[in-house]
Amino acid sequence: AAFGCFPSTGQAQMIVAHRGASFVAPENTLASFQEAWQQDADVVEGDFYLTKDGAIVCIHDKNTERTSGGTAKLKIEDSTLEELRAIDVGTWKAPKYAGQKIPTLEEVLATIPENGKIFIEIKSGPEIVEPLQAALKKANLKDEQVIFICFNEEVVSQCREKMPQHKASWLTSYKQNKLSGKWSPSLESVVKTLKKTGATGLGTQANDTVVTPEFVKAIRDAGIECHVWTVNDPQQAQRYAELGFDSITTDKPAEIRAAVTSE
Ligand code: G3P
Ligand code: CA
Repeated sequence: AAFGCFPSTGQAQMIVAHRGASFVAPENTLASFQEAWQQDADVVEGDFYLTKDGAIVCIHDKNTERTSGGTAKLKIEDSTLEELRAIDVGTWKAPKYAGQKIPTLEEVLATIPENGKIFIEIKSGPEIVEPLQAALKKANLKDEQVIFICFNEEVVSQCREKMPQHKASWLTSYKQNKLSGKWSPSLESVVKTLKKTGATGLGTQANDTVVTPEFVKAIRDAGIECHVWTVNDPQQAQRYAELGFDSITTDKPAEIRAAVTSE
């Protein structure tokens, strides 16, 4: 590792399939998660919302417009599971995926092999935490197989409080001020939020200007894991591997694994 940092696990970084193997398969469908396991991903990442009738479903956007190919525009949190299940979320990607449905959390969890893990990205607010806890109790998975990731600080705090047996990463992206050129949030503010929420990891947007060896060292010095999304470029993946990231999230798990695996 050129920059002298190593993953906190002391092992090679995990390859995380972003919304499943979503470069080839329709994101957040069972087809996409199954393709990810076939590509030998260590982890699958999926996005989850609470429906109007208390189910937990896997979809990225707040509504179904994009992944239904414009055929249905239902707001997830205002719809029932039955209404959402009637929608085809495969055809927009390719005709061979016709009939793919929005999966429930339970269905996604059932795809996880014995040595596989899931990053559950929580897209709803704190109201999802209790139903999530109940759903996970019924699942036949080990605590370390389930990791929460979330942009919402309050949700991260509640996950750590109510389900401390599962790791939880706080996610952040960055914005640059046009006048000053400064990026926010600053490293100082990132560390502060991580400590405040009790997050076990940072899930950082891939930003080669912000994420420097010094940045990584500061996170590590706070005892916090470093994860990055979404990296589809092999050279960029090598950079984050050399920076010692614990995981790399990608739409192309097999290709990125090959890029970071030394002969
Ligand atoms: O892994 C985190 C990443 O998935 C967050 O962004 O928009 O793809 O959910 P988004
Ligand atoms: Ca996500």
